[in-house]
Amino acid sequence: MTTAPLSGLFISFEGIDGAGKSTHIGALAAAFKALGRAVTLTREPGGTPLAETLRTLVLNDAMDPLTEALLMFAARRDHLTCVILPALARGEVVLCDRFTDATFAYQGGGRGFDEAVLTQLENMVQGRAEAGEFKLIQPELTVWFDLAPEVAAKRLAGARVPDKFESQPVEFFRRVADGYARRLAGEPGRFARINGGQTQSAVWQDVHAVFVAKGWLS
Ligand code: TYD
Repeated sequence: MTTAPLSGLFISFEGIDGAGKSTHIGALAAAFKALGRAVTLTREPGGTPLAETLRTLVLNDAMDPLTEALLMFAARRDHLTCVILPALARGEVVLCDRFTDATFAYQGGGRGFDEAVLTQLENMVQGRAEAGEFKLIQPELTVWFDLAPEVAAKRLAGARVPDKFESQPVEFFRRVADGYARRLAGEPGRFARINGGQTQSAVWQDVHAVFVAKGWLS
């Protein structure tokens, strides 16, 4: 795809289920709005009517690993073209609850799906020509809420009816966490790793400090 330069700010949030990202994403949206910035708060899989339909299928129905990976990327393509890129072109702050790192962590790490194939799909879906150069659309910052799978499992227990991923055993989430760690090792400059095992207010202090250090919040 070829489009105009993107003047907005694209930030994603990651972590295993139960790592506690939601409250902080909401607080960040409020903090940016208080500065007068327009904010698009969105999530994956989802964020458009089509991608939300795919979300329902992929979080509930059994399917083979390639189908699962393809649906994640199909939802992402629709979300990128219809919501994320237009918002970035308008100069907005896009706060996205999960993005491609989740596919590498869950389908790659958790399911053991071939990461080379995921990389091909990533290039296909997120590739973009900018001034004649191939660029991969990635968040400018990815906040990773890192929490021990055993602790996350305790937090989730009894909280709600688990979906297909939430009902996986703790070993699955250990592999998911390893998948996130590999993504961070490959692109350390893009990630902020937050210790999700602290109190909620201590986590917020750490998250806020990252945004202050970037010069985005004061
Ligand atoms: P989640 O973001 O935790 O939303 P909620 O808080 O409403 O449960 O749920 C999304 C689930 O989808 C989560 O278990 C991770 C999974 N997922 C993947 O397996 N691959 C992906 O590429 C994405 C974006 C999510």
